Amino acid sequence: MEHTQLLHGGDYNPEQWLDRPDILEQDLQLMKKAHVNVVTLGVFSWSLLEPEEGVYHLDWLADIIHRLYQHGIHTILATPSAARPAWMAKKYPEVRRVRPDRVRELYRRRQNYCYSSPLFREKVRAVDEQLARRFGQDPAVILWHISNEMGGDCHCPLCQAEFRRWLQHRYGSLEALNKAWNSRFWSHDFSDWEEIESPAPQGEDCLQGLTLDWKRFVSDRHIDFFRFERDVIRAIVPQAKFTANLMYRFHDIDYHDLARELDVVSWDNYPTWHKATETVEQTALDTAMMHDLFYSLKGKPFLMMESSPSFTNWQPVSKQKRPGVAMLSALQAVAHGSDSVCYFQWRASRGGEEKFHGAVIGHDGREDARPFRETAQVGAALEQLAPATGTSRPRQAAIVHDWPNMWALEGSAGPRNAGLGYWKELACHYNALARAGITVDFVGQDSSLEGYGLVVVPMLYLLREEFAQKLCDFARQGGTVVVSEWTGVVDESDLCWLGDTPHGLTRLLGLRRTEIDGMYDGEFRRCLPVEGAVPALPATRAGVLCEVAALEESDPAQVLLTYTEDYFAGCPAVAVHRFGQGRAYYLASRFEPKFYDALYASLTREAGLQPASPWPLPKGVLATRRDGLLFLQNCNDSPVSVSGVELPGYGTAVWADRDGSLQRLL
Ligand code: GLA
Ligand code: ZN
Repeated sequence: MEHTQLLHGGDYNPEQWLDRPDILEQDLQLMKKAHVNVVTLGVFSWSLLEPEEGVYHLDWLADIIHRLYQHGIHTILATPSAARPAWMAKKYPEVRRVRPDRVRELYRRRQNYCYSSPLFREKVRAVDEQLARRFGQDPAVILWHISNEMGGDCHCPLCQAEFRRWLQHRYGSLEALNKAWNSRFWSHDFSDWEEIESPAPQGEDCLQGLTLDWKRFVSDRHIDFFRFERDVIRAIVPQAKFTANLMYRFHDIDYHDLARELDVVSWDNYPTWHKATETVEQTALDTAMMHDLFYSLKGKPFLMMESSPSFTNWQPVSKQKRPGVAMLSALQAVAHGSDSVCYFQWRASRGGEEKFHGAVIGHDGREDARPFRETAQVGAALEQLAPATGTSRPRQAAIVHDWPNMWALEGSAGPRNAGLGYWKELACHYNALARAGITVDFVGQDSSLEGYGLVVVPMLYLLREEFAQKLCDFARQGGTVVVSEWTGVVDESDLCWLGDTPHGLTRLLGLRRTEIDGMYDGEFRRCLPVEGAVPALPATRAGVLCEVAALEESDPAQVLLTYTEDYFAGCPAVAVHRFGQGRAYYLASRFEPKFYDALYASLTREAGLQPASPWPLPKGVLATRRDGLLFLQNCNDSPVSVSGVELPGYGTAVWADRDGSLQRLL
């Protein structure tokens, strides 16, 4: 997929309007006015593509693709596998998913097929081949979009059998499996593969090795299904490029694994703007964290495949984006590495689940309505930002975010079963770095750490031996590492590491964990800086989990902050340790935001990381870099001025580096 312009458009579902040629004609006219250059077609078109088993109707789709193309609009073509027709679900029950309680679903909703069913795969193959043969060589089609928002799990007999095969492949023997799951506890040793079942509410739900492996297996199944569909098309269209649309803080699939199979990552971005409990800047940071994650999955530009120009209808309360926020949110995606701004959906449905979901064109069909006007403005701005297309981002800091770790951490009983706040922990570090204008990537334990100056390791409970080694090597060669509480506790089977912890990091950190104490919500322990400690950090409060650590006898860490309350008063709350050419920071607990701001201000300076903006920024203004470009975004609803430039409320300004100076692009 080659493009020299940022893509602008989105999900187009004309199958709802085939009896209204006047509306289809208006769509085309309005797309031109909104500077749309791409649409995604076919995501949920199966019942029209194959109304009866084996009878395919593709002409309507060909007509639409070609009419759009004549007007300069390309197509991202989706496979229809996410939602199967009713006839199939009725005739072939095995395509319907079985819930964790072992009840097979009736025909309902979408994204709930059995990914193991050979029959379902055959049906998908047949329709995908039709699409590939008809449109594979079509210059209008620039990218293939496999399925839609893959996720969930199926507990049917076919999936149980696949799970057992997967376990046999992973462990080789029941002996090895029993050992990895420590199943002797409560006498749960398995003596036959057939005894093993997926977790269930009325069945096994606390053998944590089993639960973790089930999550790995489900993730692998989705990826296998993706690969299957991709390869069906690739066999007919060898040059085809593929994406899948990923989701916010998504649990079910290890996106590091999935990304290896994709040509381009895309994701669906639906922040809850204007929450009662959050400023626009906070929502922007939360969203930025996701954009950065999706950029990092392949270390290259991604696509924002869906977003709403106005509001969604599935959040507890549907709030309209205030004037200007659609632009802020669209350009934020670009600032963080997206090569597109796309919406769901182009025209609002008349009926069904999503009739009140914000669309570019509403039920009134008016082009003077705010969502349309703002979308057209975004389209014009994206044309001005064409130089951003395909540009990469500097490598500065990395935060470790690993799916198996998240699964194991959240699946374990203790030391806090409510409100562990894994994502909050990530946000503590991310927000401070992002506010300081540092480019942040998210890496997994298999990722390379090359090129980064700083690696943050938040709550890496499941820490693999090789990764601990990688962190030590990184610091030895001059990198800075930050390790938070509850790191290095278990191995990849969720078996507790024996001996001193954080496993593999005690020499790096110059200390070891001796205890961990859970705090109730709202319960804190005061921490004060040690006099004369460098860097000087502010007093703060520790909450959620308080680790107690003891310094190593030889080559101990230097303590920066100590707890001043409870039986662990005087123990290190924050410490730093020189290691080789670099250093490692240890944070024993979760602290207040101002602490992280101070910590990262100091250690990014120390690590020589350049902030994105050459100018000091007013509160609520965020700065981001893509190579050769600087973006400043004002998250306040009132104007601010930066280096003589007036940024309106929710405004964005973009500069290009030209011959060593910054020239205004937008
Ligand atoms: C997801 C789906 C779309 C639509 C939107 C609504 O992202 O992919 O089909 O349901 O949510 O927000
Ligand atoms: Zn199944």
